[in-house]
Amino acid sequence: MDLKTLERVFAEAKRRCLEEEAKLHGKPTDYLWRHVERVYHLCIKIGEREKADLDVLKAAALLHDIAKFQVDPAQHGVVGAEMAEKILKNSGFPENKIEAVKHAIKGHARLYEERKTLEAKILLDADIMEKFGAVGVARLFLRCALDGDTIKESIIKHRRMFNIIKDYVETGTAKKMFMERYMFTQNFLERFEKESKAEL
Ligand SMILES: [Fe+2]
Ligand SMILES: [Fe+2]
Repeated sequence: MDLKTLERVFAEAKRRCLEEEAKLHGKPTDYLWRHVERVYHLCIKIGEREKADLDVLKAAALLHDIAKFQVDPAQHGVVGAEMAEKILKNSGFPENKIEAVKHAIKGHARLYEERKTLEAKILLDADIMEKFGAVGVARLFLRCALDGDTIKESIIKHRRMFNIIKDYVETGTAKKMFMERYMFTQNFLERFEKESKAEL
């Protein structure tokens, strides 16, 4: 993909994400676009080491959550893939790579389905990494506020999700990077519980 095409896809993804965030609370919440940007950079880092197709990976990362707040969460991959196809066609993205982008976008939101390409695996790896580490903890509380949960409710919900999702990191590069984030999160949650009970 040439630089102009990438710039068009990047700009369109950013515009739409910020628009969606603004609809939630009247101004961008930092929940969506900043996440997409970080996933994009993580994907490039992992993708370079794993020798993935970076055109597919960059486009999939930028557009993976394009339908995040528009439909039922379980559907945001399928709907997002269709929206991405239109954006990519209008941006001059290589036609022969569009299906691979769609597969990755669909796959990141359907945990129990097989991701058949390296790029689809990397996109999910990067998306999972965002849920852990310092960024993951920050996002946990941001999500808590967006959902109107108490901190305790949010932590219970996230603990359940963490236990399931941690086993879906697939590529060797991501697994190495993930472990540190996972340990940080575990330590944080344990400390939080102790402080909550005034044990520390
Ligand atoms: Fe998503
Ligand atoms: Fe995401």
